[in-house]
Amino acid sequence: MSDRRYSRADLKGPLPDAHFIYGAYRHAAARETFATVDPSTEETLTSVARGRAADIDLAVEAAHGAQRGDWRQITPAERGRLMFKLADALEADAERFALMETLDVGKPVKESLGDVRGVCATIRYNAGAADKMEGTTIPLGPSFIDFTMLEPVGVTAHIVPWNYPLGMVARSVAPALAAGCTAVVKPAEQSPLTALAFAELCHKVGFPKGVVNVVAGYGEEAGAALVAHPKVRGITFTGSVATGRKIYMNAAQGLKPAVLELGGKNPMIVLDDADLERAAFDAIDGAFGNSGQVCSSSSRLLLQHNIAEEFLERLAENARKLGVGPGLDNLDLGPLVSKEQYDKVQSYLASGRAAGARMRHGGGRPAALARGYFIEPTIIDHVDAGSALAREEIFGPVAVAQVFDKVEEAVELANGLGYGLVSGVYSRDISRAFKLARDLEAGSVWINGWFIGGVQAPTGGIKDSGIGRERGLPGIRNYLSIKNVGIRL
Ligand code: NAI
Ligand code: MG
Repeated sequence: MSDRRYSRADLKGPLPDAHFIYGAYRHAAARETFATVDPSTEETLTSVARGRAADIDLAVEAAHGAQRGDWRQITPAERGRLMFKLADALEADAERFALMETLDVGKPVKESLGDVRGVCATIRYNAGAADKMEGTTIPLGPSFIDFTMLEPVGVTAHIVPWNYPLGMVARSVAPALAAGCTAVVKPAEQSPLTALAFAELCHKVGFPKGVVNVVAGYGEEAGAALVAHPKVRGITFTGSVATGRKIYMNAAQGLKPAVLELGGKNPMIVLDDADLERAAFDAIDGAFGNSGQVCSSSSRLLLQHNIAEEFLERLAENARKLGVGPGLDNLDLGPLVSKEQYDKVQSYLASGRAAGARMRHGGGRPAALARGYFIEPTIIDHVDAGSALAREEIFGPVAVAQVFDKVEEAVELANGLGYGLVSGVYSRDISRAFKLARDLEAGSVWINGWFIGGVQAPTGGIKDSGIGRERGLPGIRNYLSIKNVGIRL
């Protein structure tokens, strides 16, 4: 991993600017485009094809044709082999992908490179599982044989957000491919570039035409048309709760299963017997990594009263060391993805200030940066527990601290919101931590560490944080349907 500075000239080759359908780049049927912006400079990077229902129809038909045709003829082991080839090709091309990602969403190049490595790991995990998804035999007695076959659900839709543009494509497309499905991806309008290049790479390593297609464009246009298309048989979405609800309702019209990953306001509970150095170290990456634009960020710090002050001092000291700047400068924090996201975070900060919250560190735009959607790493306490700052997902580099007295209060605070994605506990007493793990309402509980897991460990939310699980073997089962075969002897 390189900490050096990069320049735009380090990106060899052009930026992709068209849909990728049936093995080729294609302009939008209506010839319309939209601008994708570099949030470090606020300048337009390029204009990209703006997809609508006609483009979606072309892509879904391509995926449907491949599902019934070439892709079906390929053995699971051969699917896996193609996926290993894809991971190798991506690894060899990691710098180009990372630079495209950095230009499109602003994250430091070292983070983008880390994301690409994570994508390679995701593809390889799923590649290895492609020929290991087995059915069962069911004992019905001497007169019958009964067994299940796991079959690909068919054409799958992948509606992807902008915080890990390539990572989120791979998180759902890799298991779909392992299961034998075909895919149509709709990347976020803020970050279409790496998804398009990814589809081209799939084609280059030998995936049959139509297996992986990408249609760029807006959610209400391309996204909604994809969800509604009658030949789409499964939907995976990551993004906001409001859009997740819309997609789920639209999916219901076609009785399509949907996996929804909808973010959180994740509590990091620090008990008075915790390793404070460790917790304050983890909270830096947890709250400020990817400029806080992470569904599983440690955005809520719940601190036991007798260690709260010491913890916040350590955290602020760590935060002071963080560098903020353009993604190509490769410091610790890049800008937020868009003006919209920047304005949203600034308005949370303003409302907190107006209500008397205290900025322990940061609190706005770094003085040295005049352009770009930058926000300093920000630590806030004295926050009203009923306020938006304390209850809503901010999706920026903002950690909100609240203090509790008894452990039961921490559980009540942790479980008290609509969200249920991740809850974390820091304590040296494993029994204490484990009791909390049982009481916390969340899809994941992390003890004495943050961002624990990887492609092997299933993740997802309960309550408003979503439906279903991604990653691990459950992540592949999302794309398999069970067929029961019964034979009378
Ligand atoms: P969004 O949920 O509206 O967008 C995510 C994806 O859904 C994009 O590809 C978008 O084009 C698509 N989409 C939007 N409306 C659609 C529709 N009606 N049908 C089909 N697809 C549709 O999120 P947005 O507006 O970009 O960000 C708003 C907030 O959402 C953020 O501030 C953050 O709090 C949260 N968010 C959470 C993420 C997570 O990882 N869970 C990722 C991105 C955003
Ligand atoms: Mg962009």
